[in-house]
Amino acid sequence: MNDMTVSATQPLAATQPLATAQHPAGATKPRLPGDVTPRQLLERIVRVDHAGEYGAARIYEGQLALMGRGPKGDLIRHMKAQEQHHLDTFAGLIATRRVRPTLLLPIWHLAGYALGAVTAALGDRAAMACTVAVEEAIDEHYAEQAAALGEDEAPLRATIERFRAEEEEHKEIGLAHEAELAPAYRLMSAVIKAGCKVAIKVSERV
Ligand SMILES: [Fe+2]
Ligand SMILES: [Fe+2]
Repeated sequence: MNDMTVSATQPLAATQPLATAQHPAGATKPRLPGDVTPRQLLERIVRVDHAGEYGAARIYEGQLALMGRGPKGDLIRHMKAQEQHHLDTFAGLIATRRVRPTLLLPIWHLAGYALGAVTAALGDRAAMACTVAVEEAIDEHYAEQAAALGEDEAPLRATIERFRAEEEEHKEIGLAHEAELAPAYRLMSAVIKAGCKVAIKVSERV
């Protein structure tokens, strides 16, 4: 095999996040930390939000498997229906904006469902605590994205703001249904939020 031609055309740095500023024509506002191009920003946002909404729908599927016939069943179906709409919207953007979905969808398929099922098994309050923790992470994440998007992406920014308001509603539902009374609430919340943040970071790029 001739390795020389391969290595000559594939510099190692090509897969690293850009560390230096770029100033393409048409840039209208200050960049995110890391100075990604507008196209890279769009790709990361659509990719990670698609992944996140996919995972969210799976969390509720996992919870419904155990709680679907219980007193919180309708509440979880309501939240799941909204997540499905979020997911469908980002799946549409994956297609129309020609963004590669994350390679990690099979992992989020399993991890989302497992997180939902495990928290549901711990009880209704733990399931609600899961929602509160996830939505706190997502709220910050969507707020950062909305702030990073320029006027040229106003429709996407409006979509993100609309979904963010619905995620906020989910968080309020969780709090109203005694999430904070779940066993080991603080620990569970911290672990789930940390997991969400890792999932966000890798799903933006991978
Ligand atoms: Fe969502
Ligand atoms: Fe949500």
